[in-house]
Amino acid sequence: MQLFAVIGYPLKHSLSPYMHTAALAKTKIEGAYVPFEIVPMQFEAVMKSLKVLPFTGYNVTVPYKEKVIPYLDRLDTDAKAIGAVNSIHYSRGRLIGYNTDVYGFLCSLKESLSMTPCGKRVLVLGAGGAARAVVYALLKEKAQSVVVMNRTLDKAKKIIHDMRPLMGRTLLGAYAFDEKYIKKILPAVDLIVNTTSVGLKKSDPLLLPARMLPQRSVAVYDLIYNPAKTKLLQTAERRGYRIANGLGMLVYQGARSFEIWTGKKAPVAVMKKAIG
Ligand code: ATR
Repeated sequence: MQLFAVIGYPLKHSLSPYMHTAALAKTKIEGAYVPFEIVPMQFEAVMKSLKVLPFTGYNVTVPYKEKVIPYLDRLDTDAKAIGAVNSIHYSRGRLIGYNTDVYGFLCSLKESLSMTPCGKRVLVLGAGGAARAVVYALLKEKAQSVVVMNRTLDKAKKIIHDMRPLMGRTLLGAYAFDEKYIKKILPAVDLIVNTTSVGLKKSDPLLLPARMLPQRSVAVYDLIYNPAKTKLLQTAERRGYRIANGLGMLVYQGARSFEIWTGKKAPVAVMKKAIG
């Protein structure tokens, strides 16, 4: 019997247990995947006990993606570069941290928007943990330019600073959320990625003024998947842009985690159906 869990706090709305339970059944692996909510006060105690708990793999979600790192024996290249772990494999007495969000984002971009970042001009909205994975993925795939725009300018600058060693030929920029910059940048982008939490609530405003969106077609990817179409995606769709939400990223980061833990090919279609 192999056991897996998602760790985070709070965990009420996690879709991962549905997705992985379906994957385990389909691949006939005897096992279970459970939500493991850890209150912040007990986080340290749980992390120190990971090696005596009977789990083979974990997904890690908010607010622990960075906090788990000191407790792990090794990080893969992506997790190290981003400074965040969303998947842990406990194997042969060692805890190894991965970041499969990068793979998830790139697969989903390809599948939902038929897009690879190579040579593209990209505007990333937000500069939190999710933005770091997205910017890293864009650099890895040699985007032409990446502009990070954030309410708090210093956080956008910090991402650019941290990622500079990986930039290759990609042009990098950091801007505050301001109409004068939006006006300047939007006419020259191929892809807009929203990594902020704006759009989660019905009452949230539209992040980019509709009148500033260019006439030609732009692709818009919103990491939010609940609601399925944020105001940003609705507006973009009305403009005739290609749009995608973050459900694909969720599925593919999960699929990659499943493959790392089990060594088996993930049944992506089944996983998608389980949460779709
Ligand atoms: P995650 O790990 O999911 O990226 P996070 O690290 O909390 O979450 O980041 C949330 C992002 O949404 C940040 O870029 C945040 O902007 P600040 O850095 O200025 O806080 C952005 N965000 C949240 N609420 C926002 C709002 N009302 N307007 C603009 N940006 C907002």
